[in-house]
Amino acid sequence: MSRALKQARFNLFIYGAGHHQAAWRAPDSHAEQLADTGYYVQLAQLAERGLLDAVFLADSQAVSADAAAAGPTWLFEPFTLLTALSQHTSRIGLVCTVSSSFYSPFHASRMLASLDRLSGGRAGANIVTSMWDSEAQNHGRQSLGDHGYRYGRADEFITVLRQLFESHPRDALQIQRDLVFTDAGQLREINHAGEHFSVRGPLNLPAGPQDSPVIFQAGSSGQGRDLAAKHAEGIYSVAADEQMALEYARDVRARAQLMGRDPQALAIMPGLVTYVGNTLEEARQKQRRLNNLLPTAQSLAQLAVFIQQDTSDWELDAPVPALPPLEQFSGPAGRYATILRLIEIHQPTVRELLGLLAAGGGHCTMVGTPSMIADEIERWLDSGAADGFNLMPPSLPDSLDDFVQLVIPELQRRGRFRTAYEHRTLRENLGLPRPVRREKLAQPV
Ligand SMILES: Cc1cc2nc3c(=O)[nH]c(=O)nc-3n(C[C@H](O)[C@H](O)[C@H](O)COP(=O)(O)O)c2cc1C
Repeated sequence: MSRALKQARFNLFIYGAGHHQAAWRAPDSHAEQLADTGYYVQLAQLAERGLLDAVFLADSQAVSADAAAAGPTWLFEPFTLLTALSQHTSRIGLVCTVSSSFYSPFHASRMLASLDRLSGGRAGANIVTSMWDSEAQNHGRQSLGDHGYRYGRADEFITVLRQLFESHPRDALQIQRDLVFTDAGQLREINHAGEHFSVRGPLNLPAGPQDSPVIFQAGSSGQGRDLAAKHAEGIYSVAADEQMALEYARDVRARAQLMGRDPQALAIMPGLVTYVGNTLEEARQKQRRLNNLLPTAQSLAQLAVFIQQDTSDWELDAPVPALPPLEQFSGPAGRYATILRLIEIHQPTVRELLGLLAAGGGHCTMVGTPSMIADEIERWLDSGAADGFNLMPPSLPDSLDDFVQLVIPELQRRGRFRTAYEHRTLRENLGLPRPVRREKLAQPV
């Protein structure tokens, strides 16, 4: 394998029956198994056979407002499920979503250190600020609080999390039966008293093999990018095409550099939806099959809300009618801009646009043969748009199986992806350095 070639990293974002909203409707979908561990074990093992870096579970703490239409959006509590997966896999990373709005840092650090130990050094945490007031209402609050408040809390949360991992080092465990179990001299109180949290420490178990589990972040606003630049080691970004991904990566790396970090010591992984076939037509057929399962009247009505115009007489298999430019649009700009971008990139029919929105939304979609998709992936890696991808298979397990069976071997042939796991821990497999000790700790306990 040539040393000079930049290597791809892949994360599997596990979500219901697949990221296409209609995937669960397929006659052969696993809709009935979504509450069974076996389904997730099968997915994690398939991802591990493909030598992927990690599986990732998202989380929300309330039933979604459009639960009936959106299909299976409820989620297993991710720590619990990942702990189960840790016992059925041996090498793949396990990334857990952790909400800084609802967990306390002590609780989260205990669970993460436990997962890191239980998995032999494979834990990661995707730190989110959560999205809906309905989640806050399950936790005794009316609303999540404004964006600035949430990100301030997230910043303090990660800072304390790191201090807690350092407060009880692995080496403190020094079992000498006749003398000592823990070298208490290595334990440190952190005595943190901040705006959001007050934590004495130390953590009540020794850190796991990675010392600090790998921190991921997925914010896209200015504050989200600053948080990622300050703390994240892996980033789940959103980009509809290479240009958007490149702009994002340059911006976040520049922010990281301003904060005194090595801008290259970040794994930026944009979301990626793939339809892979032995021929382009076969790949397109797989995409059409899922798009044809969409409840089109409902999807058209939703589109009408996003673009604020009547879509009821739109011809499903005709090109999308011309839409006014962003400057002339008075509704929520983010979603509208995404729709304009998807139209520009894919020149879709109305049905295809509904399908693009239903699978991944603003994330990139690649459709083609293994070599077409590998070409694209190589381009993104070489331009600096991505260090790897957060795979969002439209249908699970089929689209993941296609990726593992067809695209991974093509990338291996090109020297772009590992042919065996080289390391035991998630951080090492991702090629990330150990985080430097940045926080000053208080006196020994
Ligand atoms: C791939 C990906 C996964 C995400 N997973 C979650 C999640 O599990 N729970 C959650 O509350 N937010 C999740 N988010 C949302 C982000 O954390 C963030 O709130 C969102 O991207 C908006 O960013 P902003 O708050 O910086 O504008 C995810 C975002 C992306 C791109």
